[in-house]
Amino acid sequence: MPVDRCVCLNLTFTSLLETARSRSLTVDQLRAVTGCGGGCGLCVPYLRLVLGTGQTSLPVMPPEGHRIAGRSPGPPSDSAHGRS
Ligand code: FES
Repeated sequence: MPVDRCVCLNLTFTSLLETARSRSLTVDQLRAVTGCGGGCGLCVPYLRLVLGTGQTSLPVMPPEGHRIAGRSPGPPSDSAHGRS
């Protein structure tokens, strides 16, 4: 299921993008004006993509801080548990 809004505030990325573009806002300024990202904060990396790319429907991403060397975390491999 694509992500298309700040769930905490129920603000769509489409409306947030329109607000940002109409006022030439950065992500931080958009957050300050709308409150978006002030809840759980999970929408913040999406906001960066929305403002950077203009896309308003994005695939689910892992939470920030959970990416290692550009890879998404996956399930542990068997070798990590002493099995091979
Ligand atoms: S989804 Fe935007 S603050 Fe939680």
